[in-house]
Amino acid sequence: MKKILLLGSGGREYTMAWKISKSLIPHHLFIAPGNGGTDAYGKNLPFGYNDFESIIHFVTSEKIDLVIVGPEEPLVNGLADELSHIGVPVCGPNKAGAILEGSKVYAKQFMSESGIPTAAYRSFSANQIDEAKEFLKQIDPPYVIKADGLAAGKGVLICQSLEEAFSALDDVIKIKKFGSAGNQVVIEQFLRGTEFSVFIATDGDRYVLLPEAKDYKRVGEGDTGLNTGGMGAVSPVPFFDEELRTKVIQRIIEPTLAGLKQRGVTYRGFIFFGLMNVDGNPYVIEYNCRLGDPETEVILPRLDEDFLQLCFDVALGNIVENRQAHVLQKHAATVMLVSGGYPEAYAKGFPITLPEVLEENILLIHAGTLRKDNQILTNGGRVLSVTAFDHSLQEALNKSYNTIEKIHFQQMYFRRDIGYEFM
Ligand code: AMP
Ligand code: GLY
Repeated sequence: MKKILLLGSGGREYTMAWKISKSLIPHHLFIAPGNGGTDAYGKNLPFGYNDFESIIHFVTSEKIDLVIVGPEEPLVNGLADELSHIGVPVCGPNKAGAILEGSKVYAKQFMSESGIPTAAYRSFSANQIDEAKEFLKQIDPPYVIKADGLAAGKGVLICQSLEEAFSALDDVIKIKKFGSAGNQVVIEQFLRGTEFSVFIATDGDRYVLLPEAKDYKRVGEGDTGLNTGGMGAVSPVPFFDEELRTKVIQRIIEPTLAGLKQRGVTYRGFIFFGLMNVDGNPYVIEYNCRLGDPETEVILPRLDEDFLQLCFDVALGNIVENRQAHVLQKHAATVMLVSGGYPEAYAKGFPITLPEVLEENILLIHAGTLRKDNQILTNGGRVLSVTAFDHSLQEALNKSYNTIEKIHFQQMYFRRDIGYEFM
């Protein structure tokens, strides 16, 4: 019996827990801290994913066989290194790998040294604000300004005017809107195209290409309003054909793995390539050292493989060959139900009404939920995600939206146009 510890509390981790529950490997799953739904697949633990002390203590005393890390923060802060020191296999990169997400300056330099297509850029440190402003004057809008470090997905500012760009720069560097994440900034060329996301699982030598996805980051319909963690996602991505796939593999995935190796990094985990399709050519917008949320909610349901086995293979260096994952030829769509006000201030603690029975091929994914006295309450901005899969994207979306009609909580909001450009 293998003992598994999964770290995280969102829809991504719920989906991982659900997929792990289908594994043929006999196992006990623990989730720290989990949410109001993950306890259907394992035991929720009373400590968070950034509480290294409790994690190390639990892993040692329970003799955990594998730790799977959902979110980026513990990885960027070196959790995998600490676990490796005590001999515990981890699905999630060490600090030297996670820095691809942890520092945008590092990632840009890495890409330029590895010949990986990405927007042209320059980086500036906090004492170079005047140089940064001079540089902005020389380039054309829109201006893309990025805080170097982790900023909970909010560290990218896209400005239409020079005035706006100057004040964005002041916010990041002088006012320290994103704290120490703004000690350096990247200013880069604005890329026009369609975004999509590609994922691999790698053991540092070989990789498995997972299903691709497209997420909907803006809070409002028609991709308007503030950026969020993601309001929905679809997989497959219709324009990700054989030709684009080959370009992504040859120009991006393989040079990234070669670049890591060249720097002596053994990367054991997932790499999420945030890409822009510019006239049929892929450019890297960002690297993430983990799976996406809500992309996981559509890619794992399509994965026709034992996910727990894959996580062990990643952690133990047992991937046999570079290959594409076995994937169900179905379309998956997920729609996120959020608390009114999100991504800004919102209330918590509202009771949630859920459908008594679910149709086939529907997953009700818990994200910001909490179980209290046998009631499910809202406990976050992104509350639930409803994934459906079917033979076409339209059918999947219909199923998802039909299910949403049976779900209620106060101030519930969702986008009604997920997947709109592919209809
Ligand atoms: P990131 O946090 O790096 O994913 O950036 C947030 C969002 O900003 C991305 O999802 C893109 O929509 C947008 N973005 C980032 N960099 C660029 C760029 N160079 N050109 C156009 N849009 C960008
Ligand atoms: N959905 C975007 C992310 O997980 O970063």
